[in-house]
Amino acid sequence: MENLSPDKISTAFRKALQAGLIREVDSAVIFYDISFLQKRITDLKSCFPQGTLHGLAIKACPLTGIMKLTKDLGCGVEAASMGEVKLALHNGFKPEMIIYDSPVKTHEELEFALNEGVHLNLDNFSELERVKGLLAKSGERPVKSNIGIRINPQVGLGTILESSVAGEYSKFGIPLKFKQEELINAFIENDFLTGMHLHVGSQGCSLEMLVEGTGKLYDLMLEINRRTMKQKGFSQVSIFDIGGGLPVSYFRDKQPVGMQTYVTALKQRAPGLFFDASSKDHGGIRLMTEFGRWAYTNSGWTVSRVEYVKQDPGINTAMIHVGADLFLRECLNQKDWSHEYTVLDRNGQIKTGFAANPWNLAGPLCFSGDIMAKGLSLPEVHEGDYVVIHDTGGYTFSMWSRFNSRFIPRILGYYFDGEKFIQLKEREEIEDIIRFWT
Ligand SMILES: Cc1ncc(COP(=O)(O)O)c(C=O)c1O
Repeated sequence: MENLSPDKISTAFRKALQAGLIREVDSAVIFYDISFLQKRITDLKSCFPQGTLHGLAIKACPLTGIMKLTKDLGCGVEAASMGEVKLALHNGFKPEMIIYDSPVKTHEELEFALNEGVHLNLDNFSELERVKGLLAKSGERPVKSNIGIRINPQVGLGTILESSVAGEYSKFGIPLKFKQEELINAFIENDFLTGMHLHVGSQGCSLEMLVEGTGKLYDLMLEINRRTMKQKGFSQVSIFDIGGGLPVSYFRDKQPVGMQTYVTALKQRAPGLFFDASSKDHGGIRLMTEFGRWAYTNSGWTVSRVEYVKQDPGINTAMIHVGADLFLRECLNQKDWSHEYTVLDRNGQIKTGFAANPWNLAGPLCFSGDIMAKGLSLPEVHEGDYVVIHDTGGYTFSMWSRFNSRFIPRILGYYFDGEKFIQLKEREEIEDIIRFWT
């Protein structure tokens, strides 16, 4: 099952209504189907060798309750900033389960990460020099962190430019084609450099691109390990981080690639990465992954009450309580970012049929671009109905915008189609907004 169906969502929402969890003030609520999410993580783990570190991308879903849940399922995290590193430590992740990837780490941040023993992926040669300096400063102390370097495999751009990072030029990593010899020398000169890292892009990247990204680094790894074996007597690269980027489907009639298909293709292209690193006869390589969207997106959905309905010639508008605050990308770039929608009546029952005119879904913000979807075929929508926005579990709430000082909605998790609910985050109050702006 890749997407939650309207039936399942309607069932859970009716249970939330009956349990009194949707108060008058809850004009919008974000939900996570935790049972679905748990299954996603178990499926992910079953596709990879046992010793793989799955560093789920915090930026996709930084909710403390969800992070703790994935920790208990044996996952690590990928942190895009020092804020995310500290959030992960606060949530009980061991330093070695944290993959720190920011491309702009300061001296202090690097020192902190090295002292804690966080896994570091360096972005460029200047950062490598800084780390060298910091390690020299710490003298004889053993290096606690595993240290890798991010390499841009230059396999091309996906369909979404803003989230493609493996073109000829990228602001991330070291370009493989242009710097291959320098990269090999960097490994030969620095014994502490034991990891390789890549990330091709997020959503919009084809299976071929993702696999070839890993393939190109795999070839480089074999070459480096051949040379270090010859010169130093050991294979230096022992950690291989394939990043994230497996796309999901936002539409039930579009089949996504699927994790198993991806892993099968990776195994063919880079077989040496797929030994069980925890077994005695492994190939000496520990795999890491950094999935965000694939892990979280399909487990979450958002519901908003319809506050008003407007009828104009040829178009209707449902005025709802989420817009560019929660769905910035959707409002600014509908070509690349869109969802399925379901209309529920005030009791949570699915409405069917189609209204004569198409619908716009307009948010509450003060600019005309605050329309997350245009020209939708929907049933008749009335004041007091609810609009469900499907597949909002990744890169929505985490990209919340403070523009117009809106209150972040309540966030609820549930198990077994709504048999049990937990609160992941309470709806914000005025004190939260004052604190933000003070
Ligand atoms: C370095 C890195 N790793 C992992 C991810 C997660 O990507 P996705 O959520 O598409 O799996 C991203 C997303 O931008 C990233 O930049």
